[in-house]
Amino acid sequence: MQSTDLTTSSTPTPRPSIDQLKADYAGEIVGWLEKITPFKSHAFLVIRDGAGLKHRIQVVCSLALIEDLTVESYVSLTGKCAKLPPKATSFHPFEFHATSLTILGKALPDYHTKCPHTAGPELKIAERHFHLRDPEFALLTKIRAQLLASFRDTFEDMGMTEITPPSFVGVECEGGSTLFHLKHPGDSGQPEMDVYLTQSSQFYLEYALPGVGDCYCIAGSYRAEKSRTRRHLTEFTHAEYECHGIMSLEDHTTKLQTMLTGVLTHLLRRAGDLLAAYSKIRTERDDRDPDEKRTKPIDLVQRLKTLIEMTKSILHLKHQDAIELLKKYQIFKDDGSEYGPRDDIPEAAERKLIDKLGVIVFLTHFPMETKSFYMKADPSDPSRAWGVDVEVPGVGEVVGSGVRESDYLTLIKQMKLQGLKEEDYREYLDQRKYGFGMTSGMGLGVDRFLCWILDLFSIRQAVTFPRYPGCVRP
Ligand code: 4AD
Repeated sequence: MQSTDLTTSSTPTPRPSIDQLKADYAGEIVGWLEKITPFKSHAFLVIRDGAGLKHRIQVVCSLALIEDLTVESYVSLTGKCAKLPPKATSFHPFEFHATSLTILGKALPDYHTKCPHTAGPELKIAERHFHLRDPEFALLTKIRAQLLASFRDTFEDMGMTEITPPSFVGVECEGGSTLFHLKHPGDSGQPEMDVYLTQSSQFYLEYALPGVGDCYCIAGSYRAEKSRTRRHLTEFTHAEYECHGIMSLEDHTTKLQTMLTGVLTHLLRRAGDLLAAYSKIRTERDDRDPDEKRTKPIDLVQRLKTLIEMTKSILHLKHQDAIELLKKYQIFKDDGSEYGPRDDIPEAAERKLIDKLGVIVFLTHFPMETKSFYMKADPSDPSRAWGVDVEVPGVGEVVGSGVRESDYLTLIKQMKLQGLKEEDYREYLDQRKYGFGMTSGMGLGVDRFLCWILDLFSIRQAVTFPRYPGCVRP
């Protein structure tokens, strides 16, 4: 038998990240040099390898090591951890005594001019690749990641399966005016095909549901919004679900409420520390752009606890009652006239009303003509839709949702009224022909939701790389 020379290697010990360092660690650490403080005989450095205090360490080294050093350079240091002197405080109960330092990625010396935290909102977007190094925005980005995880936790708790829907689609879902048109390669020898970027993955969840059961997705949705408002993006993160066996509007709102409480509760569990650290920086910084209109001091852990309580007593408000409240609070149209019983309530008026009410609102029973063709009509008043928008103070609408029309012929009628062609919606209509599961579902704008949780002024502050009219970089 031929022998094979098998070489084995022992399991390598990975270099610990800064948050994993122990008091007795000796070896190499790597990270970005956030701060240099020289003294007569030695220097203090702060090295960072992530967001938050645990990802920073104080380094003590000789003055010889800091020659040529520039802030934000990426460096490697060797040495060992040592206990802090008595009464000293730092990021950890120990500091790092460095005996050598190598600059691996040198930063130009003008880093501090690029995007200081006092910069205005426009610069913070134009220089997002620098702004992401800001400790406050880096923490926000980590909180956002935990929010996405909290959605997944909640949807899984609710027994749903994650679906990965496409971004290129053949038909509109939420009205033609905000569709992005694109060309998609055709089959060999065939012309290019007209496609759109998806506005919502609702239809794909409806297609998956009969096979996999209740399902959800967290994906990008795209709307060619013309207006540059503080609530609109052209690309946003959309958390959507679709459930079967929904026989009443109450069945639907019960699920919505479970989701809202669940997501916020998971977020508190996952991100309490991050929220506390982020609140501390926001409170300490007193040089904000006045547009950002934030209150101080900021305690976002307490705020999140309050929001969780708010999800337990939600106001259910019918559209016609909302119109009456608009009159009561003297919220009028731009021309000064009152809103009529079947008027679509524009977002500015809606937001004013919700701010007056100061609670989470499930806005229901919209006039059918103001909603998408797939909405189910209220059986006791077919001119009103079993749709539910979730409205929150300070932000306005964060969720669009509703019970889906189950009847094939009614659906066709509603499509015709909205000028949609039956042949474009074959797969959608097939759901009604082959055992429709009495579904309802929702779509939640994650970016708006994060604005609400963190009490941010503009949606652009909640997004890592925002896209809106005029902004496609970085
Ligand atoms: O109300 P919408 O249009 O509902 C739908 O898309 C449904 N098909 C969802 C479903 O039932 N599966 O959008 C849902 C939410 C809005 O409430 C809002 O939070 C967010 O998506 N949204 C936007 N967020 C940022 N920028 C935009 N341009 C947005 N358009 C909608």
